[in-house]
Amino acid sequence: MNILVIGGGGREHALAWQCAKDEKVKNVYVAPGNAGTALEPKCQNVVLEDEHSGVIRFCQDNAIDMVIVGPEAPLVTGIIDACQDAGIKAWGPTAYCAQLEGSKTFAKEFMAEHNIPTAAYKGFTDAHAAKAYVDEQGAPIVIKADGLAAGKGVIVAETVAQAHAAIDDMLASNKFGDAGSRVVIEQFLTGEEASFICMIDGDNILPMATSQDHKRAFEGDTGPNTGGMGAYSPAPVVTSAVHVKVMAKVIQPVVDAMKAAGHPYTGFLYAGLMINDAGEPYVIEFNCRFGDPETQPILMRLQSSMVDLVAQGLAGQLPSQAKWDKRPALGIVVASKGYPESSSKGDVISGLPEIDGNSRDETVKVFHAGTAFSNDINNADVDGNEKEVVTSGGRVLCVTAIADSILGAQQAALAVTGAISFDGAQYRRDIGHHAIARETL
Ligand code: AMP
Ligand code: GLY
Repeated sequence: MNILVIGGGGREHALAWQCAKDEKVKNVYVAPGNAGTALEPKCQNVVLEDEHSGVIRFCQDNAIDMVIVGPEAPLVTGIIDACQDAGIKAWGPTAYCAQLEGSKTFAKEFMAEHNIPTAAYKGFTDAHAAKAYVDEQGAPIVIKADGLAAGKGVIVAETVAQAHAAIDDMLASNKFGDAGSRVVIEQFLTGEEASFICMIDGDNILPMATSQDHKRAFEGDTGPNTGGMGAYSPAPVVTSAVHVKVMAKVIQPVVDAMKAAGHPYTGFLYAGLMINDAGEPYVIEFNCRFGDPETQPILMRLQSSMVDLVAQGLAGQLPSQAKWDKRPALGIVVASKGYPESSSKGDVISGLPEIDGNSRDETVKVFHAGTAFSNDINNADVDGNEKEVVTSGGRVLCVTAIADSILGAQQAALAVTGAISFDGAQYRRDIGHHAIARETL
């Protein structure tokens, strides 16, 4: 089989690595990929010119059996619809369903209509009216850019003044471009967060192992929001009672409502949840894709074949359970200088463990995200290991380990992370702290 993975981050490295493990798979193409996917056995990077027609042409020319789409942007612009029209098997939601992530307003209205628990909210395009609403509600309060902003368009304002400043940034100064031309203002929720990710085939739901990520840049969950600085699986806050509630109150209603609307949901669905002290889940956001960095620890635990699961999903025959390693896994993101405000490119990365094609059951795996080769990522060849790997983006690596406890996984990941260095590298040493506190109670 030949597989095309769309995307170039840590999530896509993990997806490609999982697909390549399957003996049926001959080639995994990753577009555009990164240095890690270039070095991975059976995998190679490709550059596709146009988002939709380029993908279709590549699939037709290379006998691609299955496309797996990683990031949200091509999903929101309809890559799945385009592939379906061309008779190509592609895993992900259609553009209609992807609005759950592409528009916070669509998502909030959808949740209100289908009684899915979420924070109370109001949408605004006028800064004056938005500020008046904040004055009325008080702080803390949450200000969100309506459109896609790579996980950074959310300001949790501790004070009314901070909320006003965020509104000015989004509506008046246009800091988030079109994504911020409309804002959603939300009630501040308290509790513990978890990521609940499923595969859905229009009808059947296959929950992935639960996970939790750390969105804030700095230790102690402080600093600005990022795309995610680390994650672990499972998330102990999702007890089996909470799991049942999430399936009944969040996931099943999405599947039923999309089906009733004539747009069956297919692909990954990610519910970002806040679980309150009473164990009640509230949806903070929906994503129409797998999480990054959640994918890395989750797929480290997956014992079923990702390729088989996607094939079953495409055939409308998803099983209700996959096979998981019982041991927890944890990933630490190593980001480049200045992330999330800015990022640095071209810094040489040293201390990376060699990718060993013969050992597919490693207990520590360094997934690449913002990496490239110093000369040119597409020149990767058999001696690719000897080329210099350099940074090429904000989140550079996700060092992921599996062990008998979350603390053990954290320590194993930290040991490898500590040996890797590049100019300005930053990472958090406390990934998993909520779960470790529970473990050591
Ligand atoms: P989002 O991009 O919507 O997931 O938001 C990013 C992060 O902001 C979340 O992971 C939460 O930590 C925080 N956040 C978003 N919405 C709320 C809310 N209504 N109450 C509390 N925290 C929130
Ligand atoms: N880790 C958060 C996300 O993928 O949106």
